[in-house]
Amino acid sequence: MAETEVKLGPVIIEGKTKVVYQVADDPELVLLKSKDRITAGDGDRSHELKGKAAISTDTTTAIFQLLNSAGIKTHFVRRCDDTSFIGYKCDMIPIEWVTRRVATGSFLKRNPGVKEGYRFCPPKQETFFKDDANHDPQWSYEQCLAANITVGGVLIGRDELDIMSRTTVTVFEILERSWASLDCSLIDMKIEFGVKPSTGEIVLADVIDSDSWRLWPSGDKRLMKDKQVYRELREVTQEALDTVKRNFEWVAERVKLLIPKPNARAVVFMGSASDMPHCEKIRTSCQQLGVPCELRVSSAHKGTEETMKILAEYEGEGIPTVFIAVAGRSNGLGPVLSGNATWPVINCPPLSGDWGSHDIWSSMRLPSGLGCATVMFPEAAALCAAQILALNDHVIWGNVRAKQLNTWIGLKEADKKSRNDK
Ligand SMILES: Nc1ncnc2c1ncn2[C@@H]1O[C@H](COP(=O)(O)OP(=O)(O)OP(=O)(O)O)[C@@H](O)[C@H]1O
Ligand SMILES: [Mg+2]
Repeated sequence: MAETEVKLGPVIIEGKTKVVYQVADDPELVLLKSKDRITAGDGDRSHELKGKAAISTDTTTAIFQLLNSAGIKTHFVRRCDDTSFIGYKCDMIPIEWVTRRVATGSFLKRNPGVKEGYRFCPPKQETFFKDDANHDPQWSYEQCLAANITVGGVLIGRDELDIMSRTTVTVFEILERSWASLDCSLIDMKIEFGVKPSTGEIVLADVIDSDSWRLWPSGDKRLMKDKQVYRELREVTQEALDTVKRNFEWVAERVKLLIPKPNARAVVFMGSASDMPHCEKIRTSCQQLGVPCELRVSSAHKGTEETMKILAEYEGEGIPTVFIAVAGRSNGLGPVLSGNATWPVINCPPLSGDWGSHDIWSSMRLPSGLGCATVMFPEAAALCAAQILALNDHVIWGNVRAKQLNTWIGLKEADKKSRNDK
């Protein structure tokens, strides 16, 4: 959509690298327009870099699409034009959330004795209060809590800090995993959150681009592709700025390759079409996790040759596949598939109330040499398949991780509500 089609209202805020406009006909939306400007050291170093706005918007757009599609709550709505995107208007929480996998940079100065390259597992978290005049001082969890910041009507207390903390780590892990699929190491990352005034929800906001992280191709610091290259320049020549820009372009091109297109699938075999409703539930859960799912009817007891033929077809295609076997009463299907396929098989028998506790043993008491798993619920079959496929697919990995995060946030919010209701 061309920018002219979005009627702009007043400027809400202008910073060093972007301008935020109110969208005229929707009070919930803003347009975030990037500038061709690169800055470092709280603006002490600042240069015009032609083309940077478009490169930065390419990067941010792709990253937020990736995160939105995984299920992370963000302010990103859609790309608008070369240098801008539309997002939900937020009241910004003035805390920078930093996550580190590898110790480097300012962490080493603040923690003398720690060697560069030290790996944090789980990732290390740090928080900084956004205050340019005082050079964004580091704040502990307790300082963030003691500040009693109220943003958009929401008091930033323990629950809110915990939600941002866990979301930050999840976002880092998803991006780390995604970059790893292109043999790049995400070393550290900085993000910000805002409160959506309409709902009071905390969402990931601002931008995530080459200014937000350290990115080392093949884990090699000498190959770094992020803004650190600009920070470390002794003298800022045009040639040096061109190198910085080429690095940012390199990132923006690659980041598009991270956008969801899973090369993986689940195939549900059912012994009888009467199991269709059970299988539909598996397919729905698979789709929610971004796992393409096909349903096939084939009985290993009554149509053995056909079952083997279908299996051979799938194996011949070479797409990483998990088979899910759905057979009531005596489950020959799953064990027969498992004994003849190298890919994993999950049994998910539809259990009847009367005979379920007997029938399940036909999935579990296997002949020697077989290793198929058994789960009882359609959602569990889909999740188990997704977790297996996630070993090799960063998109599915991100979906599983974000689902776990959202379940955790849901519990946290329910607990908060029950405390407030009493
Ligand atoms: N969805 C949003 N709604 C409203 N404001 C936003 C949103 N996302 C980001 N902002 C704010 O836009 C402002 C301008 O961004 P910019 O990055 O240029 O600022 P800056 O000069 O780097 O200052 P800062 O240190 O606050 O980041 C920032 O204050 C940022 O918090
Ligand atoms: Mg900023």
